[in-house]
Amino acid sequence: MLTSDKIVIVTGAARGIGKVIAVEFAKNGSDVVVADVDSAGLDAVVTEIEKQGRQGLAQVTDITDKAQCEHLVDIALEKFGRIDVLINNAGITRDNLFLRMDEREWDAVITVNLKGTFNCCKAVVKPMMKQRQGRIINIASVVGMMGNAGQSNYAASKAGIIGLTKSLAKELACRQILVNAVAPGYIETEMTKNLPQNVIDTFMSIIPLKRAGTAGDVANACLFLASPLSDYVTGQVIQTDGGMIM
Ligand SMILES: NC(=O)c1ccc[n+]([C@@H]2O[C@H](COP(=O)([O-])OP(=O)(O)OC[C@H]3O[C@@H](n4cnc5c(N)ncnc54)[C@H](O)[C@@H]3O)[C@@H](O)[C@H]2O)c1
Repeated sequence: MLTSDKIVIVTGAARGIGKVIAVEFAKNGSDVVVADVDSAGLDAVVTEIEKQGRQGLAQVTDITDKAQCEHLVDIALEKFGRIDVLINNAGITRDNLFLRMDEREWDAVITVNLKGTFNCCKAVVKPMMKQRQGRIINIASVVGMMGNAGQSNYAASKAGIIGLTKSLAKELACRQILVNAVAPGYIETEMTKNLPQNVIDTFMSIIPLKRAGTAGDVANACLFLASPLSDYVTGQVIQTDGGMIM
């Protein structure tokens, strides 16, 4: 098992990629604190985690709220005594062409994706520094590397996450805290299920592996980045995109 006896926090874990990450970590021997705004979804994930014989803890958390992120970390520390891995996965889209994009659409995406990641990193960094070990894995997107028409807000938030990842990796390496990002390509989830067919066709035409990614593909990269296999890896962006951008 890749992550035996690790204590892991996963945000945005009520469904989609975050849910699969949480369950895969449990399968690999971890206890998982799951955070999301969707309380019912969280309870279902905890049931799945417990089916793997591991402990799950649901904490309703809006990552845009600094105090709620601090509370999430406090609750995890209270229950498990330490936090080995934080996976910043929660994210949203509010797609629109730039000319039509209003300030609310811009702010919503930057606030959840970028500020929310900042809030959770901020809450977990001090305990990890005290532990003198930890892993932070930020879920970015290939869109943050290549841009995407209709997603200037989302691309900016994900590019920001990559910059945050690299800067934190430099600041925290001396405490043995490794900070990396995973940049998924086109993954079939609720987030992408309503994309127009022409957008999906365009994605498929530029994916050399000729299939959409799965949440499991993203979870596998996270497992690698949380495991001893990546002890010498920090400040990196691992693309799980079937070769979409090289
Ligand atoms: N699906 C893709 O193709 C794809 C590609 C690249 C990157 N990503 C990224 O992967 C991550 C997960 O995406 P997904 O496809 O599973 O999306 P999803 O919409 O299925 O799940 C996102 C989860 O985040 C939660 N969430 C939203 N706002 C929140 C908040 N303020 N506080 C706490 N939780 C909140 C939602 O309730 C939901 O459970 C996101 O960061 C997304 O940007 C997805």
